[in-house]
Amino acid sequence: MLATAAPVISLETDADIAQREALLDLSFGRAARLAKTSERLREGRKPAEGLAFAAHGPDGRVIATLRLWHVAAGPGRPALLLGPLAVHPWFRDRGLGGAMMSTAINEAALRGHGAIMLVGDAPYYARFGFDVALTEGLWLPGSFDRNRFLGLELVPGALEGARGLVSPTGEMEALPSLDELVTRAAPEMKRSA
Ligand SMILES: CC(C)(COP(=O)(O)OP(=O)(O)OC[C@H]1O[C@@H](n2cnc3c(N)ncnc32)[C@H](O)[C@@H]1OP(=O)(O)O)[C@@H](O)C(=O)NCCC(=O)NCCS
Repeated sequence: MLATAAPVISLETDADIAQREALLDLSFGRAARLAKTSERLREGRKPAEGLAFAAHGPDGRVIATLRLWHVAAGPGRPALLLGPLAVHPWFRDRGLGGAMMSTAINEAALRGHGAIMLVGDAPYYARFGFDVALTEGLWLPGSFDRNRFLGLELVPGALEGARGLVSPTGEMEALPSLDELVTRAAPEMKRSA
């Protein structure tokens, strides 16, 4: 049997974006993932600095993605929102999802963040310490299943007594210029102009 190198987890770069989007579409379905309530906390925002990760397979393609986002867990309480997490189907059940999670949690703690929240399958995320009890005073901006809304404290007490609506606080992405939008919509018109 051929030896294969373990996937390398690193910070995501601009070169990863198209493959990341394709992996997310494959894992969740494009319409379904963009309709999620968590997406309302991510759309138009940049992920938190140093907390967007990608894993690359032997051929250099993106095989896993995970990003964290700045939010407020109720008024005046900074926290992170984790997700989406996806591993390419060919690379699942080999510990890569867990390695992505550990990398993200450790890095968030090193950067001094106090808490992480997510919406996902509790049986999967419980192994990393996520607990539904930590989010019981919080709401998301849309419909959500409370059994899937989980929290993790990196600093003890960071979510204690948290109440209110979770809202996005990350830096906004730069909007494309009118020129860029025209080029994207009709490149041939732009060239002939
Ligand atoms: C969930 C996901 C990221 C896990 O990645 P992975 O690399 O296979 O994860 P790991 O190898 O670290 O862990 C595999 C273990 O998690 C379990 N697991 C995987 N998905 C699970 C889920 N949704 N609920 C409970 N357990 C789950 C597996 O059964 C396996 O269990 P075992 O260790 O007892 O054998 C991957 O299956 C995936 O991308 N799924 C589609 C997208 C998705 O659902 N993402 C978010 C989950 S809410």
